[in-house]
Amino acid sequence: MGNLDDYLDKLQDDIFEDARQALGDRGFDRWRNPKFNGKMADADGQACLTGECGDTMEIFLKFKNDRVCRASYFTDGCASSNVAGSFACELSMGRDPDQVADISQNAVLNAIGRLPESDMHCASLASRTVQEALSEYMSKQIKINNE
Ligand code: FES
Repeated sequence: MGNLDDYLDKLQDDIFEDARQALGDRGFDRWRNPKFNGKMADADGQACLTGECGDTMEIFLKFKNDRVCRASYFTDGCASSNVAGSFACELSMGRDPDQVADISQNAVLNAIGRLPESDMHCASLASRTVQEALSEYMSKQIKINNE
């Protein structure tokens, strides 16, 4: 039993070490502690996009005084998509629509610090989903203002 425990501990250490190498310290810590994760029932803007990889990203934005006061994401994707969704939400917090519109793939990548080359599209999926959620919020605002 002791041997099995040792084996499993070692296996987990190896997986964590590989993930830290791939995601960098900031990304690794966020993967272990995925801030902003979850769905939001009362979002003002939300979107769900599926990337070419087949994974889905959902982003939820809640606004107060035209600034994001809450943000969350939900994905069935890889570790990198979780990290990217989380940082995309973090970048949205406290921002007005113009600033949210600036959350690009590069902005998400810069916030994370590093992603494996093969996972760059995960940051793109997160940023595109934020933009769609923002569009939904803006469309609602236009409707409200025209009523
Ligand atoms: Fe599909 Fe990361 S979002 S591999």
